[in-house]
Amino acid sequence: MDNSELSRQFSERYGESQSPARVFYAPGRVNLIGDHTDYNGGLVFPCAINFGTTLLIRPSQKRAIQLASTNFDLVAVLSKDQANQKYGDHWINYPLGVVQQFDKAGIDLGGFECLFSGNVPNGAGLSSSASVSVVTAFALNEIFNCGLDPLTLVRMAQSAENDFVGVQCGVMDQYAVTMGQCDHAMMLDCETLACEQVPLVLDDHAIVLINSNQRRELSESKYNERVSETQLALEKLSKVTDVTTLAQLTPRKLSDNRLVLADSDTAYRRARHVVSEHDRVQRAVAALRNNDLHAFGALMYESHQSLRDDYDVSSEPLDALVDIARETKGVLGARLTGAGFGGCTVNLVEKNQVQLLLDRVETHYQQLTGLSANSYQITPSEGVREMRS
Ligand code: GLA
Repeated sequence: MDNSELSRQFSERYGESQSPARVFYAPGRVNLIGDHTDYNGGLVFPCAINFGTTLLIRPSQKRAIQLASTNFDLVAVLSKDQANQKYGDHWINYPLGVVQQFDKAGIDLGGFECLFSGNVPNGAGLSSSASVSVVTAFALNEIFNCGLDPLTLVRMAQSAENDFVGVQCGVMDQYAVTMGQCDHAMMLDCETLACEQVPLVLDDHAIVLINSNQRRELSESKYNERVSETQLALEKLSKVTDVTTLAQLTPRKLSDNRLVLADSDTAYRRARHVVSEHDRVQRAVAALRNNDLHAFGALMYESHQSLRDDYDVSSEPLDALVDIARETKGVLGARLTGAGFGGCTVNLVEKNQVQLLLDRVETHYQQLTGLSANSYQITPSEGVREMRS
């Protein structure tokens, strides 16, 4: 939906006023490599994508918070007190969680009216939720002149998901949708937030996302379970080593200290994934810098295997998509992306073989899983911003 149509819908809903709505936009993100490392102090390598959430917003004289979206039916008009409580499992929890963060920071926001409109597919592992939280945080900061810096907004959007929505996510998604740059991916150290923007020079290759369209059941509780499993592994390992995060372990140090995890093979495998994935991010970025896309692709396959076997976050549909990709000429690498338990795979493919991959998915995926997949070609894009006409 274009911005003039959104403005029309905004005025229709909230009425004309002398101060027109301001328009903000935040993208989604795809993680190229480095999953389930962020909340373990490790490296990730995401980029912002050319799908995102547009927000039209304007302060209002009423103290109420008014929320609507072109994607969902629910419309909410809430007082400050009502806005402090979780609203079932609904999308408005993301903006409400952000409002609560401003409150916690001692910032008394006035009332406002807003209309969201997004095209990041939900539940696809492409951060539709971070896109909504970040665009809300960024826009509120601007329209109420709060003067907060981008990193503070990133942390507030993350805390909104941790404290209000109840997902113990790391910082990757909110950071990537805030700091994205055109044609770059970010190597982010999630412990220190040191970040290198790396040019994504793909020449005649494309990044293709394939959505498994698998319903993600219980994905939030399984995600939180992985967070606790790694916390448990760290607790035990930090008694016998000097590490304060799992990502600080080398593969050697982990295997030397395997005995402390002797009573839990699960904890050992979770830790092994984090350590190997952190290492893969460094090797993948080095490969990219050397223009060695084949090496990058091979690391994507290794990453998928580790997420599947050690971290247990893959699924039959995701494995089927990766297997189809592996057997397709011109595909250099493929892996699940984001939290897993369904969602998308990310594929690095020679441009002139993209159609072949899509045809092969069309022929085999439904046969193997009973589901039908769809695909998106993405370009690495700019992070959150105000859209000025
Ligand atoms: C979700 C979370 C992120 C990250 C990924 C897995 O997207 O929001 O913080 O943990 O899963 O890498």
